[in-house]
Amino acid sequence: MKLFNPGGERGSAMSYAALLEKIEIMRSTLRWSSRLEQPDVDKLLRQAGALRDEVMQLSHKERFVQAVSADTERRGAEPAAPEPSTGERRRALLARSFVFEGTFGDNPKLLDALEIAEKAAPTDLPVLVDGESGTGKELMAKVIHANGTRADMPYVSVNCGAIPDSLLESELFGHRKGSFTGADRDRKGKFESAHRGTIFLDEIGELPLPGQVKLLRVLQSHEIQRVGSDETISVDARIVAATNKNLRKLIEQGSFREDLFYRLSVIHLTLPPLRERKDEIPLLLAYYGDEAAEALKRRPAALTPRLREFLLRYAYPGNIRELRNIMYRISCLAGETADLGHLPEDIRPALPGALAGTAGAAPATPSLAEAKRAASDEAERRCLEQGLLEVSGMVAELARRWEMNRQHLQLLLKKHGLHSKDFRKTH
Ligand SMILES: Nc1ncnc2c1ncn2[C@@H]1O[C@H](COP(=O)(O)OP(=O)(O)OP(=O)(O)O)[C@@H](O)[C@H]1O
Ligand SMILES: [Mg+2]
Repeated sequence: MKLFNPGGERGSAMSYAALLEKIEIMRSTLRWSSRLEQPDVDKLLRQAGALRDEVMQLSHKERFVQAVSADTERRGAEPAAPEPSTGERRRALLARSFVFEGTFGDNPKLLDALEIAEKAAPTDLPVLVDGESGTGKELMAKVIHANGTRADMPYVSVNCGAIPDSLLESELFGHRKGSFTGADRDRKGKFESAHRGTIFLDEIGELPLPGQVKLLRVLQSHEIQRVGSDETISVDARIVAATNKNLRKLIEQGSFREDLFYRLSVIHLTLPPLRERKDEIPLLLAYYGDEAAEALKRRPAALTPRLREFLLRYAYPGNIRELRNIMYRISCLAGETADLGHLPEDIRPALPGALAGTAGAAPATPSLAEAKRAASDEAERRCLEQGLLEVSGMVAELARRWEMNRQHLQLLLKKHGLHSKDFRKTH
């Protein structure tokens, strides 16, 4: 049986999908075959499983990104160029009109994820996004939708963990009037609502096994039946699923179907936790500090050095969402200056003999780390002022000269309270 020809057609995203499809068909056919002896069936199933794993590995993110750059090289566009910097990668995304949907950061792992999203978005391949709570999985689903051909069509979000078992089928597939107590009219389900658009299946790891079977059926047939109806309805919904669980572990434990996992994870994206992208924390603090101040219609609160130090070192188990919440809390509770006392109590460090809630109560002698940070902030500010002087306040020009993201530069200017117009030449 000739299924896979590595020397043949080059691996594009679509051929991965086609290959997976073939494997799944082969697996189902073999399962129901009556003309083969069981040992043969088992053997073939094992072979198919191995082949499928190989395809999954190929589509795994590093391979996927490598395939994209190898493709560029093959076409002779760039002769063995050095690795692009993260700034260059972000600029390249911008230049290709990538829609970020508010996602920012120059961390290499995040850029990997965005580049995969960019490639996957225009295809209809299912995408599985995983990562810890608050790492931006839902945001990534929106990025995929916004960059695809379905961007103007519905985006429907379903929280699989929040639907009671008894209502799951009706929520997903709809129902006919009178099909159960309380069904007082015909109702569309989420899949029908997402027709021609994207359905985001959040917390897919929480979906109970009977629901998984039903979902698998829809993924295979692209058809649904409303509860209480015999009529089959074709649905064309692009699937993006997300989880903060380790689905492979759930498969081992028997609470997640392996076949569903492979169906959903043709493209698999993992978002890095904030503790692995600490370099982004200053930017996120500035961004969410400003956002919170704007939302609360006030001036951004200045952070005392010790609060800033804490926020830069904190582990953020709740990731970006936690950081954002902290900045909103600080903005709401602090006056002109925010200090450790404005942090949520459960994460607030003990302050020996200090008045924890007193704004501006900086220690008399700064620690070495605080002194370093203050000096580095001062150097950063001076450099920005000098740079702005040289370009007469043209931020875009400065960003170009320094090969920096303009948005990032704007945030730095905000952080230091610098206004580009103060550096414009007046005649
Ligand atoms: N790269 C990013 N840049 C800016 N903001 C981000 C980024 N990633 C996430 N956020 C913000 O962090 C918050 C949490 O993101 P989101 O809801 O997408 O996370 P999640 O992974 O779905 O979380 P959960 O697992 O708890 O559902 C949102 O306010 C989102 O806008
Ligand atoms: Mg979420």
